Amino acid sequence: MGSFGMLSRRTLGTDTPVMTQIRKLMAELTNPMSLAQVPSPLSNSSSSPLEIHTLGFGVVHWQPPKKALDKVKDIVWDPIVSSYGPDEGIPELRHALQIKLRQENKLTESAVMVTAGANQAFVNLVLALCDPGDSVVMFQPYYFNAYMAFQMTGVTNIIVGPGHPDTLYPDADWLEKTLSESKPTPKVVTVVNPGNPSGTYVPEPLLKRISKICKDAGCWLIVDNTYEYFMYDGLKHCCVEGDNIVNVFSFSKTYGMMGWRLGYIAYSERLDGFAAELLKIQDNIPICASIISQRLALYALEEGAGWITERVKGLVKNREIVKEALEPLGKENVKGGEGAIYLWAKLPEEHGDDFKVVRWLAHRHGVVVIPGSASGGSGYVRVSFGGLKEEEMRAAAGRLRKGLEELVHLGMVE
Ligand SMILES: Cc1ncc(COP(=O)(O)O)c(C=O)c1O
Repeated sequence: MGSFGMLSRRTLGTDTPVMTQIRKLMAELTNPMSLAQVPSPLSNSSSSPLEIHTLGFGVVHWQPPKKALDKVKDIVWDPIVSSYGPDEGIPELRHALQIKLRQENKLTESAVMVTAGANQAFVNLVLALCDPGDSVVMFQPYYFNAYMAFQMTGVTNIIVGPGHPDTLYPDADWLEKTLSESKPTPKVVTVVNPGNPSGTYVPEPLLKRISKICKDAGCWLIVDNTYEYFMYDGLKHCCVEGDNIVNVFSFSKTYGMMGWRLGYIAYSERLDGFAAELLKIQDNIPICASIISQRLALYALEEGAGWITERVKGLVKNREIVKEALEPLGKENVKGGEGAIYLWAKLPEEHGDDFKVVRWLAHRHGVVVIPGSASGGSGYVRVSFGGLKEEEMRAAAGRLRKGLEELVHLGMVE
């Protein structure tokens, strides 16, 4: 065992990131197509060099607004860009975000801290709100990185609540009962709206009820709004605000800024001292989010929500294509997808080892999806419809459908 045994129990007790496992799996394949979230080495000879990179890259297939990228190009030599900035974010960006939060999210009493992505925002919050040994609540299927953020900070008492069997909505009755019966009261409840890995959204009345249950119980509610603009079928995303509520946002998917690592936290401006506590953590992890990324975010915001919704509209077709590919599993076994970029599909009972099915699909059919057990949903898979343009999506979906037909009728033949 050697020095491996000297590693912290916290780290050793944290799940291995599913994305690194999937990257490893993809490296074993010659021509994989990814419906996972991980880049696939797709290329298209008719594409421009810019497009070749975006075809398979990241979770959305678009890059940041061209105008914003052009402006960033002009400022790389500005010494300000190479220096540290304020821990909480550059004032211009924070100001622009505050306007956005007020106008679009109806968060009228929230202050902002800019982070190096929503994942870092979440870890900041866990460090600020929880102590090792505290209990916290998540709902199944949960966002794997949020689960790991609890594990790696010593919050190992993670209570996972049920989602409604049909809608996958978080079960508020269960939450009310659990918060009143668990002693001590769990510190944090967290929901992702709309969800990763399910693509399920949380309707406004339910979100309000969850926030009231948390307030009455004296516990924090963290809402991850990474996919706030990714809503379909006329549904509307909404936010809740309160002294016990913290909202997390991301620029990754909205403006195609995955690699620029930019997100932010919105917290109640009435909370005396909260910002100072968050800053202790921020100052020890990124110090500040990359200045050039903050500038790009500022310029991207100038394009506004319309720029994003125009692109999100194009994903409706992708969702339909992926839904069709999942038909061999039975329509009743495919859920979610009202928001975000994911569908959540139940595998046949006799093939409930989702990791095994994922490996088989990858090696035999050249298509990669995410195993549900990474999100506490063994026997399921998560399929993303955001990372490929329509033509490539059709090709990947064709492989998936063929694979699932074989799985259902013949099993995992070699
Ligand atoms: C729900 C959710 N939160 C956070 C993140 C990470 O966002 P960021 O790139 O801003 O760290 C993701 C990325 O997939 C996500 O799905």
